[in-house]
Amino acid sequence: MADSPGDRILVTGALGQIGSDLVSRLREVYGQNSVIATDVQDQGDFPAPFLHLDVLDRDSLRQIISHYSIRTIYNLAAILSAHGEKDPDLCERVNLGGLQNVLDASREYGCRVFSPSSIAVFGPDSRPIARQASSLNPTTIYGVTKKKGEEMMLRYWENYGVNARGIRYPGLLSWKTVPTGGTTDYAVEVFNEIQAKGEYTFYVREDTRLPMMMMEDAIRATLMLMEAPSQGLSQWRAGYNVRGLTFSAIELATMIVAKKPGVEMRYVPDDRQKIADSWPEDLDDSPAKQEWGWRSTYDLEKMVDVMLAGFA
Ligand code: NAD
Ligand code: SER
Repeated sequence: MADSPGDRILVTGALGQIGSDLVSRLREVYGQNSVIATDVQDQGDFPAPFLHLDVLDRDSLRQIISHYSIRTIYNLAAILSAHGEKDPDLCERVNLGGLQNVLDASREYGCRVFSPSSIAVFGPDSRPIARQASSLNPTTIYGVTKKKGEEMMLRYWENYGVNARGIRYPGLLSWKTVPTGGTTDYAVEVFNEIQAKGEYTFYVREDTRLPMMMMEDAIRATLMLMEAPSQGLSQWRAGYNVRGLTFSAIELATMIVAKKPGVEMRYVPDDRQKIADSWPEDLDDSPAKQEWGWRSTYDLEKMVDVMLAGFA
């Protein structure tokens, strides 16, 4: 099996928050026509090549892999945490059933796989700082699918040699796409809404502190992991902790108000507070640093400057 990226790349769930940025970066690196973007949603104005693909449709997945000589799959199709709590059956089917289809097809066609995990693999016992080896006791259905997904990927690697890798992304911050369906969405929504209305109501308490990361860093981490030689990766290959930055809702609000005086912030927690309270406040990412050289590049002020400029 090839150990470096090459031939064609398939991205599932490409129309989502990460896909929108990852596809354009992959196309810069590997060529526009080498990256086939797919999603269950309509293409809209997303740049070609694009195909409709439901990851639950095993036959179509195989046909696309075979027809386009796909050698690497970035599996981004998923149902995120807040949406998953509302529709647990769909969350399990897409996050686990979809991943299994991708891994089975990859086993058959010799593809490399990247499929993201999440800080949601951790439960309240990992607070405040989740280490790489902290116990995984998620209390959300989404977190359970991510934990089982990591286990499945490791099993396909150990038993069938499927070169599968993953990262436990923190909440991701991008000014290009406003996220939906997640718990960490407030850290992006706030920039969008103050631009439109001059005010924002956080759906979490002001002391809520969660691990976050700029999308640019997340994409860089993803490509670094996929380019790392396989022999340098340990048993964490399916779900590395990666640290970006951490801040509370009020620290974020204070930094924004310092840059944009007059903006009003309120805090009215809803049912997503319970999910946020079950996740760690920060991460230790020593294995990612040691095994493939991970370093983050943003602090809170730099992040706020970039997000404000992006949404202006
Ligand atoms: P997103 O919700 O923005 O995008 C997911 C995409 O998957 C959507 O475009 C959706 O249409 C598509 N999709 C849903 N069901 C599908 C199906 N059956 N077949 C094909 N496509 C389907 O999510 P995202 O933020 O881009 O997340 C991508 C991955 O990264 C997910 O695995 C998610 O768990 C993980 N992750 C994201 C974050 C974050 O902050 N964005 C943090 C941690 C982990
Ligand atoms: N950002 C994601 C969510 O909130 C974490 O996986 O669901």
